[in-house]
Amino acid sequence: MCGIVAYIGPKQAYNFLIQGLKRLEYRGYDSAGIALLDGDMKVYKEHGKVQDLIDTIGEQNIEGTRGIGHTRWATHGEPNQKNAHPHLSGSGDLAVIHNGIIENYASLKEVLSLRGHVFNSDTDSEVLIHLIEEICANEKCSLFEAVRLALSEVVGAYAIVILSKNDPDLLIGARKGSPLVVGIGNSPGEYYMASDATPIVEYTRKVTYLDDGEIALVSNGELTIKTIDNIQKTPYIQNLSITLEAIEKGGYDHFMLKEIYEQPKSIHDSFRGRIDSNLLKIEMRSLNEFENKIKNLRRIIIIGCGTSWHAGLVAEYLFEDFARIPVEVEYASEFRYRNPILYPDDLIIAISQSGETADTLAALELAKKSGATIFGVCNVVGSSIPRMTDAGAYTHAGPEIGVASTKAFTAQVTVLAILALGFAQRRGTISDSKLRAMLQEIERIPSKVEKVLKSCEQNVLEIAEKYCDTPNFLYLGRGYNFPVALEGALKLKEISYIHAEGYPAAEMKHGPIALIDTEMPVVVIATQNDIYEKVLSNIQEVKARKGRIIAIVTEGDSKVKDLAEHTIEIPETEDALVPLLTTIPLQLLSYHIAVMRGCNVDQPRNLAKSVTVE
Ligand code: G6P
Repeated sequence: MCGIVAYIGPKQAYNFLIQGLKRLEYRGYDSAGIALLDGDMKVYKEHGKVQDLIDTIGEQNIEGTRGIGHTRWATHGEPNQKNAHPHLSGSGDLAVIHNGIIENYASLKEVLSLRGHVFNSDTDSEVLIHLIEEICANEKCSLFEAVRLALSEVVGAYAIVILSKNDPDLLIGARKGSPLVVGIGNSPGEYYMASDATPIVEYTRKVTYLDDGEIALVSNGELTIKTIDNIQKTPYIQNLSITLEAIEKGGYDHFMLKEIYEQPKSIHDSFRGRIDSNLLKIEMRSLNEFENKIKNLRRIIIIGCGTSWHAGLVAEYLFEDFARIPVEVEYASEFRYRNPILYPDDLIIAISQSGETADTLAALELAKKSGATIFGVCNVVGSSIPRMTDAGAYTHAGPEIGVASTKAFTAQVTVLAILALGFAQRRGTISDSKLRAMLQEIERIPSKVEKVLKSCEQNVLEIAEKYCDTPNFLYLGRGYNFPVALEGALKLKEISYIHAEGYPAAEMKHGPIALIDTEMPVVVIATQNDIYEKVLSNIQEVKARKGRIIAIVTEGDSKVKDLAEHTIEIPETEDALVPLLTTIPLQLLSYHIAVMRGCNVDQPRNLAKSVTVE
């Protein structure tokens, strides 16, 4: 939800800012803007994408060794040029970029308006920079102090960076609820700031992540970190482990396609070093640290949003099947406002690719107060959720840039499968032979995913061609394949803007069956398992109404083939791991349909990858 970048140092800032905004565009792409200091404060902004900003700037020679940049996902105020960041203070001497929401902006704006402030946008962010200037003038204090005082008046979430024409050697960043990372450059006095590390990695590996309530002040080449209560902190400098290749397209047309094809590796990276099928070992620090708790667990509550919530649904089956622990899966956004009943012996698992989703973070804060143990399954190292949890496991999928989540989902399912098996082993609810079979099968999954990717592409392309103009799709699955049906439908909606619904196959007869006619494509995931025959009956029900069946089946299946218009085969696997294979053709199907419809696959309209506002 909005990406921010900033630079101060000896070099020209423009290229870093523009390149950085491109890297952060997955966070929002409603408008883009930069401000540079070159004696004067120069602001360039444009409605639309970073490329639109570049086109607007054209051949102009833009100079300045201090600068800030912003790519917006609109919350307050339409996506247009006027509301694009950076926003200036009344005098035009201060500029701010902001990611988050200032919830009390309306009352602040009213007071400031009465004092003569005139606003040029409809945003909450502009109010903040006016407030800072007002405090500076009234209190006759330093800019840092004014920022600190202003932030104490603000309700809401923010990551901000401020540039001042009158203090060109000053750059101030602050965070509460939205991420901000500071990069320590290789030249003296050189610092970078950004919403995540991807814009920075090319320039420096040394970074420090701000905690909530912290302000980073770069002044005359020195970095100081203070809390909003003016307490000085020692920055914890860490080395980035992501590589440049990981955040580039590497020859693929889209990040999404690259990320789909990366799954054999990302799944492997998610279990590498954590399981040993010969020794029947599942090694994760958190499993050892919380062994007693795991043995006596009363309940697991899983929270997440979007695709991560779907991974949570798969985990519900996994934990209940293997570890015999009751599981509830909650939308973080509902959980946080529902006054949920929590016990200290509950385990709360938050699943989040970004580790920054505002609703998931807020739900965790609520759960933490109850004394329950908080566990995170996240992908982005150093993000907010892993930093607030008692324990956790990174998914190690590598950076995911396409807005529609693909490899993060399969990595989440892999890690959750290992966790469920680890819990089962410690609770004595799984036999050694079953555990061995599961671990061996997890080790085989990457090559099976590879096989699916190779074998289904042509078939998927043909199906995509046939149905790319269809207005509706239905996705059906049961058991472990029910969350896959939801995820398949979500992928199609997100990137191709085709209306799609995922349903438990047997629920179809309670409503969605009314939608079936000769035009309706119904994707049924019908792999071999205990309820295969039941799914077959559901397929018959669709067939009887002349629906057009696209089925995902286990290799060698003949019964479904006789009924379906199209079948896509996946190799046989343990039922509990089947989502790792059945998801793949559905990702590819939505990808190809979206491409054929001319949609922007990596940056679908209205969406953002990291949703750091409610
Ligand atoms: C956004 C993204 C989805 C993602 C969801 C949850 O809606 O577009 O792809 O699943 O947020 O994000 P998280 O980072 O918490 O997994």
